[in-house]
Amino acid sequence: TKTFSSLLAIGCLVSGTALAQDDLRTMALDMFAPIPSTTPSFENNPVTPEKIELGKALFFDPRMSASGVFSCNSCHNLATGGDDNMPTSIGHGWQKGPRNSPTVLNAVFNSAQFWDGRAPDLAAQAKGPVQAGVEMANTPENVLKTLNSMPQYVEWFQSAFPEEANPVTFDNFAKAIEAFEATLITPAPFDAWLNGNDDALTDLQKTGLQVFVDAGCAACHAGINVGGQDYYPFGLIEKPGADILPEGDKGRYAVTATADDEYVFRAGPLRNIAVTAPYFHSGAVWDLRTAVEIMATSQLGADLTSEEIDAIVAFLQSLTGEVPEVVYPILPPETASTPHPSG
Ligand code: HEM
Ligand code: HEM
Repeated sequence: TKTFSSLLAIGCLVSGTALAQDDLRTMALDMFAPIPSTTPSFENNPVTPEKIELGKALFFDPRMSASGVFSCNSCHNLATGGDDNMPTSIGHGWQKGPRNSPTVLNAVFNSAQFWDGRAPDLAAQAKGPVQAGVEMANTPENVLKTLNSMPQYVEWFQSAFPEEANPVTFDNFAKAIEAFEATLITPAPFDAWLNGNDDALTDLQKTGLQVFVDAGCAACHAGINVGGQDYYPFGLIEKPGADILPEGDKGRYAVTATADDEYVFRAGPLRNIAVTAPYFHSGAVWDLRTAVEIMATSQLGADLTSEEIDAIVAFLQSLTGEVPEVVYPILPPETASTPHPSG
């Protein structure tokens, strides 16, 4: 009988945890969503294999920058988590930009792009860095001149936009990059667990998920990207020091010119967060545990225990996904009419 009752106890325990796990999953599915199994699509920009290939070439082509040095991949390196692992990016003329480079992985699931959400989608976003003085410092005219000088690029634009008589445009440049970026999605253990695989998360990660929700993190970091959906004051409860929240960058205020939006930023998307240090728009914090501690104090006024923070960090590690294999593209060779690098 002893064996029987202890078996019974184990049985209850197991079915108890199974029940608890189902509850946790039901709650999680209310707030988060797994990465879809197919490439996301856009209403005004059908994603085709030709467009993806063109977008990939453009993403890796340093000749899209005035200096011929910087490609999108310079600051969004697909080999290192889709970012540059620098506090703030270095761009044209070795200039230091004002903000940390966010990952392009899963950026397609953000409701708007940039730390302040100033670009509504990836196509609008892609036109920014090419022209930004501290990034690629180029002009749309010079980009088109460069592309038109290489017959192979003109052909690629024709196959990517077969309906258009004159497909080599800056809009199509951006649309092709958007299509490529739509393929940069990274299913993670968290998705496998959301989809029903009980063993995809460790017990500590499950505890961490529960703490993440109970403490209130999920109020701001939700959706497919566990963030990236909405804007909140950085320092809602307690403003971090100027080393972490520099006074000169007022965030969303620059977009809306509304006083309430001073120091308001998009809640960071947390997928792949464990591989995209340093953290925050200032890139001032190198350690994920410290970033979590700062969030607990600044956003929630919560005094989390060391165990709770460990559990949250373990949960965040379950958001590190599998990066799709990207074959490095061989780019079209320059011709006599290709503009030379400048600056
Ligand atoms: C932001 C893509 C070139 C540095 C972003 C975002 C995307 C992106 C999708 C928004 C991500 C998010 O909000 O979560 C691209 C593409 C590029 C390119 C397609 C090439 C056309 C560069 C270069 C640099 C750079 C060359 C560095 C010199 C940054 C920085 C941000 C950013 C610092 C954040 C800016 C802010 O929030 O104000 N990029 N990027 N990017 N990128 Fe790039
Ligand atoms: C950024 C985690 C609670 C709003 C971040 C980042 C992490 C994080 C790791 C850095 C993202 C990056 O550098 O890419 C957490 C955790 C929380 C929590 C673990 C609970 C303890 C909250 C809450 C809010 C919020 C409750 C809203 C009231 C933000 C905002 C940012 C951010 C606005 C961007 C800050 C910046 O401008 O750099 N969060 N967060 N977070 N989070 Fe949270």
